[in-house]
Amino acid sequence: MPKQVKALRVPDLAEKKRRGEKIAALTAYDATMAALLDRAGIDVLLVGDSLGTVILGCDTTVPVTLDMMAHHSRAVTRGARRALVVADMPFATYQVSVSEALRNAARLMQEGGVSAVKVEGAGPVVKSVRHLVDVGIPVMGHLGLTPQKVHALGGHRQQARDRGSVARLLADAAALEDAGVFALVLECIPDEVAFEVTSQLRIPTIGIGAGPYCDGQILVSYDAFGLFDSFVPSFVKRYASLGSTILNATEDYVDDVRTGRFPASRTTDFFRSSEPELVKERS
Ligand code: KIV
Repeated sequence: MPKQVKALRVPDLAEKKRRGEKIAALTAYDATMAALLDRAGIDVLLVGDSLGTVILGCDTTVPVTLDMMAHHSRAVTRGARRALVVADMPFATYQVSVSEALRNAARLMQEGGVSAVKVEGAGPVVKSVRHLVDVGIPVMGHLGLTPQKVHALGGHRQQARDRGSVARLLADAAALEDAGVFALVLECIPDEVAFEVTSQLRIPTIGIGAGPYCDGQILVSYDAFGLFDSFVPSFVKRYASLGSTILNATEDYVDDVRTGRFPASRTTDFFRSSEPELVKERS
């Protein structure tokens, strides 16, 4: 009988900020990985639209669709027991109209089983955020480097580097908080700007490439575990080298198969008995 665990809920993140406890978040895209990260005590699992780059082999997150996000969200929520699972709303699924944003967010909750959604940017998006929050859909914001705007931004580069853009970022953060977001991801901005935003908001900030002063941290799990090396931002800390572990294991397997070392012979019992050996069920 699996041990009962108390699932983390949206208000628990605000409580963590109040108590000065840091929030640990990672991205996840499938049930097996989600279950492992969950067992290790992760607070938030984000089904990021980084899915497009690290899982599906796209160059950017722009081609990711709502169907893809719903499919992978379902897998992650099957694997997670304690962590709060949040899904990214993909490009152009929340900008067209408030009613479309609601319909699409509801799909991620109903089909994907997630507890909250994340949207990038502020400005025209704030109206939709307010409506989603008003009808009971928890929304996480995302400012700074917003990868869905990579073409407009001219690449994945640090944001909020001059007074004007810092002032805009602070105003956007305040507008999102006012619209009801329960947490705000700050991506790729100077540490001191992240500090300023974090001190001005009551809601927790979760940084990625935004220094140590945020209320929590998030990394793309495939970067953190060394599974994806096409493009690894300089702020990423590598906690494992699973890519080379898998590469070495696969080379060993290929070698074993080619040389006949695997599988070992199991024919002795079969030939001794008149009954064919039963294949043991996976438990
Ligand atoms: O899609 C994603 O993985 C994200 C994180 C970088 C925060 O949005």
